[in-house]
Amino acid sequence: MFYTTDSNRHGLAHDPFKAIVAPRPIGWIGSKGRDGSLNLSPYSFFNAVSDRPKLVMFSSAGRKDSVRNVEETGVFTANLVSRNIVEKMNHSSIAVPYGVNEFELAGLTARTGKLVDAPYVGEAFAVLECRVTEVLQPKGLDGEVSENIMVLGQVVGIHIDETIIRDGRLDMALARPVARMGYMDYSEGSDVFEMLRPKAP
Ligand SMILES: Cc1cc2nc3c(=O)[nH]c(=O)nc-3n(C[C@H](O)[C@H](O)[C@H](O)COP(=O)(O)O)c2cc1C
Repeated sequence: MFYTTDSNRHGLAHDPFKAIVAPRPIGWIGSKGRDGSLNLSPYSFFNAVSDRPKLVMFSSAGRKDSVRNVEETGVFTANLVSRNIVEKMNHSSIAVPYGVNEFELAGLTARTGKLVDAPYVGEAFAVLECRVTEVLQPKGLDGEVSENIMVLGQVVGIHIDETIIRDGRLDMALARPVARMGYMDYSEGSDVFEMLRPKAP
């Protein structure tokens, strides 16, 4: 099948776009408001976009509380989600009024970043402490801005749970990172295989 996105007539029961761009990692964004309130929410429009400097981004459909907080304080944490805490991640996505602490709602330990004044998930296997570098609304072909607000941040500190380190590498079969597939589907990255890149002749 083929369809154009101007009409978006895919003929399916649900828009398949996000199922096609999958699996997506989940950035579980920890942030703090100017009023001191703590926030934690998952974003699967999340990825690393640069290695030098180390930059990550998350993208919010509208100005959600995480965006408000990072605009107010200029910092956030991106926590990675593993299989053993995936239900807590889901719980933290609940739509609650501004100021409600999703760390408490989901029964997670909120720790304060070492370098940034933003909370992180004590139970996460890896945490990126970030300083905001840009907040932007990407444009479409017609020049109109997207409804999504994209936050880019530079990773200034990294926490790793040492129980997932084996032979000097992160053992992803131990970490079991969870990814968002389409719809309400998830997958877990424990089925790990290695493949080396070919060498030029
Ligand atoms: C796995 C998962 C991924 C999500 N990804 C996004 C996303 O990329 N962008 C977005 O705007 N909302 C996303 N959501 C929904 C937000 O987590 C939800 O709207 C949350 O209440 C936002 O919280 P906040 O207003 O405290 O930032 C996702 C939810 C789940 C469960």
